[in-house]
This record gives sequence, structure tokens and C-alpha cells, in this order.
Amino acid sequence: MSDKPNDSKTEDTSKLWGGRFSEATDAFVQRFTASVQFDRRLYQHDIDGSVAHAVMLQRVGVLTLDEKNLILEGLEAIRHEIEAGDFAWSVELEDVHMNIESALTARIGSVGKKLHTGRSRNDQVATDIRLYVREQVDIIADLVGKVQLALVDLAERDADTIMPGFTHLQTAQPISFGHHMLAWNEMLERDYSRLIDARKRLNVSPLGAAALAGTTFPIDRDYSASLLGFDGPTRNSLDSVSDRDFAIEVASCCSTIMMHLSRFSEELVLWTSAQFDFIDLPDRFCTGSSIMPQKKNPDVPELVRGKTGRVFGHLMSLLTLMKSQPLAYNKDNQEDKEPLFDLLDTVKDCLFAYSEMMPAVTCKKDSMRAAALQGYATATDLADYLVKRGLPFRDAHEVVGKSVAFGIAQNKDLSQLTLEQLQSFSGLIEQDVFEVLTLEGSLNARDHLGGTAPRQVLLAAGAARSLIEARPTR
Ligand code: ARG
Repeated sequence: MSDKPNDSKTEDTSKLWGGRFSEATDAFVQRFTASVQFDRRLYQHDIDGSVAHAVMLQRVGVLTLDEKNLILEGLEAIRHEIEAGDFAWSVELEDVHMNIESALTARIGSVGKKLHTGRSRNDQVATDIRLYVREQVDIIADLVGKVQLALVDLAERDADTIMPGFTHLQTAQPISFGHHMLAWNEMLERDYSRLIDARKRLNVSPLGAAALAGTTFPIDRDYSASLLGFDGPTRNSLDSVSDRDFAIEVASCCSTIMMHLSRFSEELVLWTSAQFDFIDLPDRFCTGSSIMPQKKNPDVPELVRGKTGRVFGHLMSLLTLMKSQPLAYNKDNQEDKEPLFDLLDTVKDCLFAYSEMMPAVTCKKDSMRAAALQGYATATDLADYLVKRGLPFRDAHEVVGKSVAFGIAQNKDLSQLTLEQLQSFSGLIEQDVFEVLTLEGSLNARDHLGGTAPRQVLLAAGAARSLIEARPTR
């Protein structure tokens, strides 16, 4: 702690809210209650909100045209100053809102003090965060689309690349690698639609709710809302200043994205291991070991998997932050920003990593194929073959189970048994059985919507691509 809790009073009593105070804020309290260290990242949205508020105030006659123009010029000058890195942020001024307002007054004189008419930091900060989260949702939704397109490209490239599909991480049935990529794409497709759905609910304007009860000035809330690209104003002033559901909702969407990315990561880590040896990750996405010269570690997927925990943690922080808060605004709400910002930054980084890494993934087709040939992946195909020849499925299951046990004893795959050996388990088996026991036969037979036949994978990839490409640019 840089300032001892009880060592001091600050010199300066000239706070924007200092009127009723007779002593200066304690130096520790000043630092403890300030948010400018992290909320300065909202400066664009804060200035946009102020511009809309000033334009609205002039339209309803609270500001003159000259006053409004002076305020707008001042705000734009401050925006440039911040962008150029020349703005002097001050912890004494507590937060982004008061830093900018006080700079405005310093720049344009007492007209600057009129900007806060009919407004409170409570509706101001609620507006800023909504604008910020909306912008971030658009960036994240776009990144989700980029990862999806990379997966669809892989699906098309590797529609007929065969690998073992797993249940319980035990070899189950042969599948197309492209089909596996399209399963990942489905998860991201749902993530995208969840984000867009959350965006609809967050895109309303709290401006005009003021501190909690509204304002006595003849404001036009529809107008300021439309200036900021909101679909309309919020309906209840108390709820407007205290609601952070939208942040929780987006944090929840992002947590689901991370849950998915952690699943992808787990599979990539497994597949790059010597034991699986299914894929290669590009060297530029891996690192070496300082002691073991042979190592090429899949650090990027591992870190994405690890960062999932911190995103889930931030979601829990936000939920817990809002739990039990009485209406309306409470200072607690200042604690929404750090978890939210870190969560959004983390999700963007992880999606960006995937959008760059996935196009460079290559399949080791021979070892995927060899793995698919182990583990009796076509046993279900043999059962289906017998059913199509009239045997009830449960009996077919029994016959195939015995054939597999025999294969295990002989150390041979079903396709490597002789016709005579197979016929010893069922007289229904004929020479054409070998067509269904091959990996290609097994895949091609699953030729229906959602199935793993390469023909279906290509159709599904085309449909997925059209969905992604039809999305509006925001
Ligand atoms: N820095 C505050 C926050 O982030 C802004 C709103 C402060 N409002 C107040 N009445 N103290 O929540």
C-alpha cells in the first residue's frame, strides 16, 4: 500500500462534488475509491455519450447553440489530446467522467460546467459501459466468424481425411477430420447467435435516468438514444442506473466461448502428442523446452485452456458483485469494470490465436488412418450389415462382439479376418462384407444430413460458409 490509511488529508478540497465537504478526502480513500486507473479506457464512449447529451440539451432548449458548439469543440479537442497521449489523468479527479468534465471546463470556461445538466455519473457510466460492451461484442462476434471460416476451410480440405472418432476417449467409429472440424463450428455458431441475442438486450440507452429518478429538465431520451445508435431508451430510471445484467450476459456468452475453446485446446494437445500423432501445429505457435531438446510444446492451446478459468472467475465476480445490491446505483458497481475488461481482452486474444493457428494445422493422415484401423472402429458397420440381412440388432451385436473377441485374440482387425473365420460367427456373412469393413466404406455409408460421409461433410461445409458469409457487418 503506497499511502498509509491514516497518514494524511489531501491538500485539495476542490472536488467537482466538494461543496458540502469541510475537509479534504483522505489520501488512502482517494486512491481506494478512484477508478480512473482502469476506467480511462472508456474515454471514447464517455465523450460520445457527452456529445449526444449536449446535442440533445441544445435541441430541447437547455443549452444555446453557441454553448453546445463550444462544448462539442472542447470534447473533440480532449479526445485528440487523450489519443495523442498528452492528457494528464488525475487520481484526485476519481474517474474518467470527472477527469474529462474538469478538463472541459479548464479548456472552455464555465460553459463546460453546464454539460452535466440533467445527467448524473450514474446514467453516464451505465451508458459508457453499454457502448463499450456493444463495441466489444461486435469485435468478438467477428473473431468468432473468423475462427469458424478457418474450421470450414479445414473441413473442405480434409472432408475425406479419416480419423478415429471417440466416445469415452475410446475408439468408436471412423469419422472424417472435416466432420470433426464442423462439430467445433457448430459450437461457435451457437456462440455467435448468443452474442447477437445479448446485443439486442444491451442496446438501450440509460441516458436521462440521471442519478436514479430522472430529471426535472425537458430532456428527449429517444433523441439521445438514437444519436448513440441505441434501439431506444430504457424504461425505468432506477433499473437503468443499477442494471448490469447485460455485462453478466455477455460474460456468460464469453464463458461458453472459452469452454468451447478449452475443449478444442484439449483435443489439439492430445492430437499433437507422440501417442496420438494426428496433427502438426505450426512451429510459430509452439515453444521448446530448455532441458529436453526434442520437445515442441503446444503452448498456445494449453494457455487458452488455462485462461478459461480466469474468464469463468470473472463471470462469478460479476454475478457476486450484483448479488443483494439494493436499488439503485451503489459504489459496488465500480467493481464491474476490471473483471469485465480482462474477460473481454482474454476472449479476444484466445479467439485471435485460434483464427491464426487453425489455418496452419496439418493432418498426419497416415497415423490418423493407422489409429482408425485399431480398436475395431468398423464393428458397428458389421452389426448393421447383419441387420440388413435379417438378423435382429441385439443378435447382430452379440455376433460382432464374439468376432471382435476373436480378432483381439488373433491380434487382427475385423477387416483382416478371412471370410471363413467371419462366417464361423454367422452364416449370413458373404464376400461383400469387406466393403463395409473398410474405413472408406464405413464413412460413405453414413450419407445423411449430419452424417460423416465426405459428401455430407462438403455439403455441410458449404451451408456453414453461407451462414457465416450472410452475417451483417456492424
Ligand atoms: N466511477 C463510478 C463507477 O464506475 C462512476 C459512477 C459514480 N457515481 C457515484 N454516484 N459515485 O461506477
